Amino acid sequence: MISVLVLNGPNLNLLGKREPGVYGSVTLDEIDLLLTSEANSLDVKVCCQQSNHEGGLIDAIHATVGTHQGLLINAGAYTHTSVALRDAIAAVNIPTVEVHLSNIYSRETFRHYSYIAPVAIGQISGFGAESYRLGLQALIHHLRR
Ligand code: DQA
Repeated sequence: MISVLVLNGPNLNLLGKREPGVYGSVTLDEIDLLLTSEANSLDVKVCCQQSNHEGGLIDAIHATVGTHQGLLINAGAYTHTSVALRDAIAAVNIPTVEVHLSNIYSRETFRHYSYIAPVAIGQISGFGAESYRLGLQALIHHLRR
């Protein structure tokens, strides 16, 4: 069965309490539940992890080798800063979909550049928690092509 690592970066553990006007009231646990239910419908497995640390995220990406066939990632602010995360995805060469709750292109200009986008299959941004569900569907569609 296809297994997907869902990786969330810094501050996403605070979803629900964090800037609800921007990110909504849904918690990360609720997003994990939504993805688990979507995974059941798609007949795939998801493994949901979160870290506030760049190195922890990189270790998790390295550990996908031989375990997961796809990566769904919201790298949070590291999206806009981390060459190291980008290099980790390129190094393990795992099919990756990048997601964001907010529309990063309608916000501050420093959020308009993503280091992840060039090494991802694609990006879904701006649909709140639905970005994750859409991202999982797109990733599975790609893996089953
Ligand atoms: C985010 C957008 C990033 O710019 C921000 O730093 C986040 C969350 C989003 O999901 O909208 O932490 O990735």
